[in-house]
Amino acid sequence: MRTMIVAGNWKMNKTFQEAEDLTAEITKGVEKLGAPNVEVILCPPAPFLEMVLDLTDETYVAVGAQNVSEFDFGAYTGEISAPMLRSMEVEYCIVGHSERRKYFQESNDLLARKVKSVLRAGVIPIFCCGELLPEREAGNHVKVVKNQLEESLFDLEEKDFRNVVIAYEPVWAIGTGMTASPEQAQEMHASIRELITLQYGERVAQDATILYGGSCNPGNAMELFSQPDVDGGLIGGASLKADEFVEIVKIAINCT
Ligand code: PGA
Repeated sequence: MRTMIVAGNWKMNKTFQEAEDLTAEITKGVEKLGAPNVEVILCPPAPFLEMVLDLTDETYVAVGAQNVSEFDFGAYTGEISAPMLRSMEVEYCIVGHSERRKYFQESNDLLARKVKSVLRAGVIPIFCCGELLPEREAGNHVKVVKNQLEESLFDLEEKDFRNVVIAYEPVWAIGTGMTASPEQAQEMHASIRELITLQYGERVAQDATILYGGSCNPGNAMELFSQPDVDGGLIGGASLKADEFVEIVKIAINCT
């Protein structure tokens, strides 16, 4: 089902105490809004997952992880698996963020295995895709994203694909203050929906949730979220400030 989502990716930020305060403040703000028709997700660093799960229990706020192992269990020191996340009642997991691709050499093939592991465990992957600046400048942005989707997602069976959330995050827009224009976002989101239509059919494509990420903030969220194929956002920097994040949730509510 197509859902409006606002997800906060805290990346490797905050101490335990700071994360506790941020969670409490965001949850209070979201509860005040009631958040009808919008799924609000916090993706804290892994050591804080349990605390965030506790503080958001029985609220409108759901919890996601930022990364996961491709393996279910075993001798993989330092890794965290999808069945572990599931056993803690973590509902979502970001897979393939561009920082993972860049700093940890995560390939489309590896990400395909991670997505499958996450789905097998009953967790919803938030699969990130997006082009680098030179790729956009060369006019190859749609081709790059098509390749990422084909190699990491399109061999899923339809019933599994239906459980994937896609986040289009142009790499040049992440943490740079250089947001994609609403037209650029809409063009890519419509292309992604078209690719899904070709692979899985019109109904699956219309039901797919496609988020935008990359310097999204309270000042630009409205024009981005009102594009017909943009179903919310994956928020980095602005998710570290409770008032800004809650404001973005409010904007998403107004766009439903
Ligand atoms: P940003 O990050 O909002 O700070 O650009 C987005 C993301 O990396 O998911």
